Amino acid sequence: MTENGLNYSADTLVINASRLLTLEPCGTSSSDSLGIIINGAVAIKEGLILETGTTQEIRKKYSSCPEIIDAGNSLVMPGFVDCHTHLIFGGNRASEMEMRLEGKNYLDILKSGGGIHSTVRATRNSSPEELYKLGMERLSLMAKNGTTTVEIKSGYGLNRETELKMLQVAARLGQDHPLDIVKTYLGAHTFPHDLSRDEYLKWLSGGVLKTFKKEAEFFDIFCEEGAFSFEETRRLLETAKNTGFKLKAHVGQFNDLGAAGLASSMGAVSVDHLENISNGDLDLMADSGTVAVLLPGVPFFLQSPLYPHAKRFIDKGIPVALATDFNPGSCPSYSMQMMITLGVLNCGMTVDNAVMGATLNAAKAISREEKAGSLKPGKKADLIILEIKSPEEIPYYFGTNLVKKTIKGGRVI
Ligand code: NIG
Ligand code: FE
Repeated sequence: MTENGLNYSADTLVINASRLLTLEPCGTSSSDSLGIIINGAVAIKEGLILETGTTQEIRKKYSSCPEIIDAGNSLVMPGFVDCHTHLIFGGNRASEMEMRLEGKNYLDILKSGGGIHSTVRATRNSSPEELYKLGMERLSLMAKNGTTTVEIKSGYGLNRETELKMLQVAARLGQDHPLDIVKTYLGAHTFPHDLSRDEYLKWLSGGVLKTFKKEAEFFDIFCEEGAFSFEETRRLLETAKNTGFKLKAHVGQFNDLGAAGLASSMGAVSVDHLENISNGDLDLMADSGTVAVLLPGVPFFLQSPLYPHAKRFIDKGIPVALATDFNPGSCPSYSMQMMITLGVLNCGMTVDNAVMGATLNAAKAISREEKAGSLKPGKKADLIILEIKSPEEIPYYFGTNLVKKTIKGGRVI
């Protein structure tokens, strides 16, 4: 019982955070976009956030709480939301990295039958069990690096059987692994070699989308030279929208085909990559509320000098998110911490922009802002404890994993 006779119950407390980043600013200070509580604590009940406050307040209010996790004067923040990954695939493409070091570029390798096509072959040849096992291992590595929610795309099947296999493996991962999974159908990743362009377009826009709608929440497409054109993207997004999918698109990675504005005007939840985008398309994004997902690990790994420029979006009021784009060709990294470093060093983000981009804005990019991305009462108790004291140390100590503990739904995993 408390002094006023009320019985507050929490089943777990996380206490002694040097700084608690709630991502829920409460005051009027615009300098506190991360909602920082010094010497903070979190009360958790049945896997959900009950309340945040100072350690003194929370300890006093929930003095009979059975489980205490002591953060030991380290930084505590929401778990990372990795809102763009190609987590499920067979094989790897380490040999392509060597080809690129010898001067070949990513799109040339794709055009000559390698790249995505090589992963399509390996994924078609992998059993569901093999893909499941790889998926479990990869998710655990992500969890170790502080990620608590992951979007997973299909796109290495390019036929009914293997696309379904990938999405069904993703569903099993969601059931069996503690991390939360969001599924995206990316049949429009590129054109398969065993059908003509017209045949594949016809197949994609036929009744098969209804089948995939049962397996995935989002529809995604790669609009790029060597993949889908502006007009093909327009038609497929329209069909997907009419089938009931939420929309995403890979746009402007190497060339600006104008699809950022197109997808945004059609109500896309996010458009992703965005190294190349016109001012006109920025305005269309600003009007639509579409999230800009930046993937700075890609230009880093492909040794491109051209990074997406966050300030262009932020100045227009467009929410900017960060993701790994974890995939075997353009970014085999599990680390959202590394993306924060690259966001700050190469995309013109402030530390606050990057932390917001890896948490709350990333949750928006997969329609999970009601459940994840900040420490708001009622949201999932997804938290990480880092071996540092303040947020600017996340990008500073780059290339090492600073996560001491990952707490998913109130439990240390
Ligand atoms: O987001 N750009 C297209 N798709 C992925 C890469 C896929 C691959 O290379 O296997 C991306 O970068
Ligand atoms: Fe991608």
